[in-house]
Amino acid sequence: MDNNNAAEDNTMSGYNTPFEALGEEGIRQLTSAFYDYMDTAPEVAQIRAMHGKDLGPMKERLAEYLISWMGGPQIYAEKYGSMCMTSPHKPYAIGPAERDQWLLCMDQALEQTGADEELKQMLKGPMFAIADMVRNRD
Ligand code: HEM
Repeated sequence: MDNNNAAEDNTMSGYNTPFEALGEEGIRQLTSAFYDYMDTAPEVAQIRAMHGKDLGPMKERLAEYLISWMGGPQIYAEKYGSMCMTSPHKPYAIGPAERDQWLLCMDQALEQTGADEELKQMLKGPMFAIADMVRNRD
């Protein structure tokens, strides 16, 4: 009998977390595409200007953060001791416009790295929620 248990599986593709879909290498590629977009797109110049000249270290740190946040090993917390994103962003004025620029970089990175529709839908709500949590002004 052909029984693939599709009805018991919450997803069409058989992964339950973004980490399962992307793996560590996929998340590193996503983060790299994220900052490459930030580095070049005029629409996000405002948030690019908040960052240092060399985005290399941020590619590494955001990748480590997202590996944990997406359901993989807790490497960010092991290295830096916390997953709280409020204090590292305190020095920067982040309102709705900056939040939306950040989310645009993420959308573009997902597009460029070939994320499927299911993964995009899985991430949409939580990505907005975390970016809005980092926002520190109206
Ligand atoms: C909402 C808009 C956001 C803006 C404008 C923003 C901007 C920044 C800036 C300017 C830095 C410091 C960069 C540097 O030291 O050169 C930073 C650090 C960081 N951001 Fe964001 N960020 C945003 C949202 C987020 C979100 C949603 C996450 C996580 C999903 C995140 C993760 C990080 C991490 C992991 C660091 C490094 C913190 C550390 O370990 O010191 N950011 N961000």
